[in-house]
Amino acid sequence: MTIELRPVTDDNFSEWRKTVRHGFGEHVHPDDIVRLRNERVELDRLVAAVDTQSNRIIGTGGADSYWLTVPGGEPVPMAGVAYMTTSVTHRRQGAFSNMMTYIHDAARERGDVISGLWASQSHLYGRFDYGLSINSYDWEIDPSFGEFSHFPAANANNADIKVSFIGADEAEVVLPGIYERMHRQTTGSVNRTSGRWRYQLFDEERVRQGASPLFFAVCEEAGEQTGYVSYRMRRQGDSDMGTLEVVEQVSATEVAHAAIWRFLLDFDLVGKITAINRPSDDSLWWMLSDP
Ligand SMILES: CC(C)(COP(=O)(O)OP(=O)(O)OC[C@H]1O[C@@H](n2cnc3c(N)ncnc32)[C@H](O)[C@@H]1OP(=O)(O)O)[C@@H](O)C(=O)NCCC(=O)NCCS
Repeated sequence: MTIELRPVTDDNFSEWRKTVRHGFGEHVHPDDIVRLRNERVELDRLVAAVDTQSNRIIGTGGADSYWLTVPGGEPVPMAGVAYMTTSVTHRRQGAFSNMMTYIHDAARERGDVISGLWASQSHLYGRFDYGLSINSYDWEIDPSFGEFSHFPAANANNADIKVSFIGADEAEVVLPGIYERMHRQTTGSVNRTSGRWRYQLFDEERVRQGASPLFFAVCEEAGEQTGYVSYRMRRQGDSDMGTLEVVEQVSATEVAHAAIWRFLLDFDLVGKITAINRPSDDSLWWMLSDP
C-alpha cells in the first residue's frame, strides 16, 4: 500500500470534507460541505492523502489564510493550519507528517511569514517547531456572583455608554467594523473575510443544538460602536433558570468590555452564563468583586 499526496479539487472536496469530520468522530451535513467550500476554504491550500490501492482519501490537511496582528506592527500573513486528520485505518505511516511538510512548503512559497494553529492535541506539533502562544478558557459563570468591584469608566450608569439589542441583519453590517478595530489593536488576533463572517453568523436550526437563534447586542460610547456580544438562550419555558450561552464577545475598548459583561450579568431568569474561548488575560476576573 502506498499513500500519495494529492490536491483537493471540486471533484474530491466532498470526500475530503467528510474525511476531515470522520477524523474528529462526526458526520457532516451535505449543506455544510457547500457552506465551507463557499465561505471559508481556499482549495489550493488543501491537501489529501490518498491510499493508492483503494483510491480513497485517508488523510486531510490544509491552511486558511489570515492576517495576524503582531506586536508593534502591521498585520502579517499567516497560514492557519487546520483540517489535520489521518484515518484510524492508516495511522502512524507518516501521512500527517508528510501533509504538514507539504503545507509548510506551500505557505513559504506564498509568502506567509508565520504559521499558527489551534491544537486539539498539543503534543503533536512541537516536532514541527510550533510552541504555545496563548491559552484560552471556557467559562461557566453563576450570575449571582456577578457584582463588579469597579467599572473602567466614571460609573456604569454613564449616559454616554449604552448597550442595545440589534437584529441579525444589522449585526451583519455592524459587527465586522468593531471586530476589525479590535483586530488592529490586539496582538495575536486574526482578520475575518466577508465569507468568514457569513460562516460565523450562520444560524440555521442545526447549528443551534437546541438553543435559541442568535441574539445580538452592541455597546455604544458617545455614539461610537465599540463592542458586541452574540449569544443564545437555552431554557425550557418562561420560568426556567436557563443558560445564556455567549457565542462571541468582542470589544475594542475596556469600557465596552465592562458594559457588555454588566449587561450579560444583569439578566433575570439566567442561572448560568457560559462563554467559550475567552483569552487568558480577559479583565472580567479583575472587575468581579467575588470571582
Ligand atoms: C494526529 C494524527 C493526525 C496523526 O496522524 P498520523 O498520520 O498517524 O501521524 P504520523 O504517522 O505522521 O506521525 C507523526 C509522528 O507523530 C507521532 N504521533 C502521531 N499521533 C500521535 C498521538 N496521538 N500521540 C502521540 N504521538 C503521535 C507519531 O508517533 C509519529 O512520530 P514518529 O515519527 O517519531 O514515530 C491522527 O492520529 C488523527 O487524525 N487524530 C485525530 C484528529 C486529530 O487529533 N487531529 C489533530 C488536530 S489538531
